[in-house]
Amino acid sequence: MIISSEIGESEFEIIAGLSKSNELGSWNKTDYQKAYVDSDYVTVTAKDSDCIIGFIIFRVVQDEVELLNICVENIHRRKGTASILINYCIDFSLRQKKKKIWLEVRESNFGAIKFYQKSGFYNYGTRKKYYSNPVENALIMVKTLSD
Ligand SMILES: CC(C)(COP(=O)(O)OP(=O)(O)OC[C@H]1O[C@@H](n2cnc3c(N)ncnc32)[C@H](O)[C@@H]1OP(=O)(O)O)[C@@H](O)C(=O)NCCC(=O)NCCS
Repeated sequence: MIISSEIGESEFEIIAGLSKSNELGSWNKTDYQKAYVDSDYVTVTAKDSDCIIGFIIFRVVQDEVELLNICVENIHRRKGTASILINYCIDFSLRQKKKKIWLEVRESNFGAIKFYQKSGFYNYGTRKKYYSNPVENALIMVKTLSD
């Protein structure tokens, strides 16, 4: 597997497709393209035989990091791909001396919550009715890197 922070022009369509099919939110191809050229955002892909099978996108906000999306294509799950991607984010944050990594996840997204817990994130609180279609609370999770 190859982990890459270089995204080719044709690859944004694939990232947007993964985002849509996994109902990650409202971001489209243009949003991912804009984030790629914005130095506050980091996008990283995981590739198998030159095909994107997963990606992570996170944003640096002062001395903290916000994990916006992480996704691995269904047939490639439970093989450690998302762990490699989230470790990229954690290593990046540690190198940049960031203090915390925050994320939000649908309360019903049991698999992702388990994954985040295994990656060292803790439940911080709830944002009531944060999501729409369907309306659902967000669980706020955080990983502390330093005080
Ligand atoms: C969550 C997601 C990114 C995990 O990707 P993955 O590549 O399968 O994760 P990994 O293989 O690195 O999993 C590492 C560990 O996390 C836990 N884990 C991952 N997926 C899990 C699931 N569905 N149920 C329970 N535990 C899970 C396990 O402990 C796993 O280790 P194991 O396979 O040895 O038991 C993937 O399921 C996904 O893309 N989901 C849809 C998109 C999504 O919901 N993203 C999060 C939005 S906030």
